[in-house]
Amino acid sequence: MKNNQNIVLIGFMGTGKTTLGERLATQLRYDFVDMDAVIEQQASTTIADMFSAHGEAYFRLRERNCCKLVSLYTQTVIATGGGIVKDESNIHTLKNSGLLIYLKSSEEKILANLATDTSRPLLQTADKQAHVRQLLSERSCLYEAYSDAVLEVSALTIDEATARLYTIANTMRTTTRKGTR
Ligand code: S3P
Repeated sequence: MKNNQNIVLIGFMGTGKTTLGERLATQLRYDFVDMDAVIEQQASTTIADMFSAHGEAYFRLRERNCCKLVSLYTQTVIATGGGIVKDESNIHTLKNSGLLIYLKSSEEKILANLATDTSRPLLQTADKQAHVRQLLSERSCLYEAYSDAVLEVSALTIDEATARLYTIANTMRTTTRKGTR
């Protein structure tokens, strides 16, 4: 792993990957990229519209391609979509480009953060809570298994979470750099 490695944020929808990622990038003096935003720009449409026009599989294909693209970047904080862990090849791609930090949050906090959200097609269901619970039960172990570090954000303010994230990212960068000399 090189000095220019990326920091990749993974975790469920509504855990703050974009908000915290932007702040972390500023502090590290890194670039920031949000994969969902890149996919929307490339396709000139929203993810919600993409899901309804072409289905989830089409989105996942574009997500996989986007993963390959952003993995070529250096010194970048990458905010992934919550479903990135559904395809193990995405993880291999991202791990080759940087360190993965899992932003872990409670079901309650996630539901509160997403209470009024209409942009996530997977959550436009009658029983949002049941669906979040189901997806979390499928994905939590994957986020844990694939990450190099975990930050539990449920009880933290944005400022606190940013500070903790910065410490983790900086320590990991330094440690990895020394370890690979
Ligand atoms: C998804 C999460 C979303 C977005 C898409 C699918 C998921 O990203 O990629 O709606 O499968 O969890 P965020 O995690 O940034 O909301």
